[in-house]
Amino acid sequence: MKWSSYRNAYSRDVLSMEDGKPVKLLGWIASKRVHKDKIFISLRDRFGYVQLVVSSHYEDAFDKAKRLNIESAIAAEGFVKVDDRAPGGREVHITKLYVVSEADVWPLTKEVLKNPDTMFDYRHLTMRGPRSRAILLIREGVVLGAIDYFTREGYVYITAPTFITAAVEGGATLFKLKYFDRDAYLTQSSQFYEEAAICVFEKVFVVQPSFRAEKSRTRKHLTEFLHIEAEAAFLDHEDIMDVEEGLVKHIITYLNENYERELKTLLKGSLLQEYEERFPRITYDEAISILQNNGVDIEWGEDFGADEERILSNQFETPFFVTHFPVSTRSFYHMNDPSNPNVTLSSDLMAPQGYGEITSGGQRIHKYDELMEKIKSFGLDPADYGWYLELRKYGMPPHSGFGLGVERVVRWLLHLPHVRDATLFPRTPSRLYP
Ligand code: 4AD
Ligand code: MG
Repeated sequence: MKWSSYRNAYSRDVLSMEDGKPVKLLGWIASKRVHKDKIFISLRDRFGYVQLVVSSHYEDAFDKAKRLNIESAIAAEGFVKVDDRAPGGREVHITKLYVVSEADVWPLTKEVLKNPDTMFDYRHLTMRGPRSRAILLIREGVVLGAIDYFTREGYVYITAPTFITAAVEGGATLFKLKYFDRDAYLTQSSQFYEEAAICVFEKVFVVQPSFRAEKSRTRKHLTEFLHIEAEAAFLDHEDIMDVEEGLVKHIITYLNENYERELKTLLKGSLLQEYEERFPRITYDEAISILQNNGVDIEWGEDFGADEERILSNQFETPFFVTHFPVSTRSFYHMNDPSNPNVTLSSDLMAPQGYGEITSGGQRIHKYDELMEKIKSFGLDPADYGWYLELRKYGMPPHSGFGLGVERVVRWLLHLPHVRDATLFPRTPSRLYP
């Protein structure tokens, strides 16, 4: 059989078909219930689930349905039956059934599924479940919503290399590897390459993995994550916060418009909250006061850890920006605030209700001497940043940019326990398989 031309409908089409319509479906047996003379199959395909009913009257189909293990791939043909008892009000009464690929006994017992760690050992199989399926589709929606936003706003999509020679976000989290007979690293951020590209395209964005040798075992750190980054010429620190806010609001609207079914599956029947109001902007100094007033032992000049972010963001019901981080907490490329050189023109967008940082951004140093001085003052070697410095000699305008972690956003929007739930095959300090 030529399966590519066999199918004439998907599961979701069946749900709006009239009684008696002939259909040919392809998919997997997600679950089955065997009664004496009837077998109910939940068939999963690219768009979801539909109920098949195989009656013993169709002997060949009935025998196959009885014998086949769940997750066998099948082709099934029959007629649509309108029935209020069926999920979605339709089922398909099967007359013929073909075995496309027979499955062994499914290895995932309730015990395996109960333990999140063993569940991720079987991620290549557990990703087929309805919950993972819906989460992974929302992840798709976050990326497509971002691409939609940036292309509408005139940003050009570029890609940057994965093999690099020097740190963007500090040496502590660099993955080192052998590049033939030299040392190389895995990229932490595409930002520097974007900065080169703004002198030709003005506004650019990337969607690609970044890598962090991040040993901290928190609910928000992966060693490989999907990074959406944008950079724009002639935009200052305030302007780039407007872009970040616009992006997050657009992603939410995009998901509500295009992923209603998945959202309702995951959010007990509701859609995402849309935010009309402007996101609050508080300074780092104000954030420190809020933390100290909540009994947190933190001094001015320290960066926020996972606990501080949780406590701070628990004070908010909408996303909010924290701005003007101290020089000591931010990478060397940040522009110092001309009106207060102890702080930078930087900001983090924080998700509310304990979720914390989802983006980091700010204005970059665009003047050669100022950047050279800051590289030295950070104890870094200017030779490592040769081309990045050189950009400042050839017409680099004031510019700003930011990076957003896709898994962080998905985790927040869907209230997931851990960022690993928001990715297909998570990479953490303890997980490199499957
Ligand atoms: O805050 P980060 O480190 O900022 C940068 O990399 C900048 N160079 C971005 C830029 O301005 N172009 O990372 C940006 C975002 C964070 O806010 C967070 O959402 C996510 O990337 N992120 C991680 N997500 C999961 N696991 C990790 N280990 C992450 N590290 C950063
Ligand atoms: Mg950050």
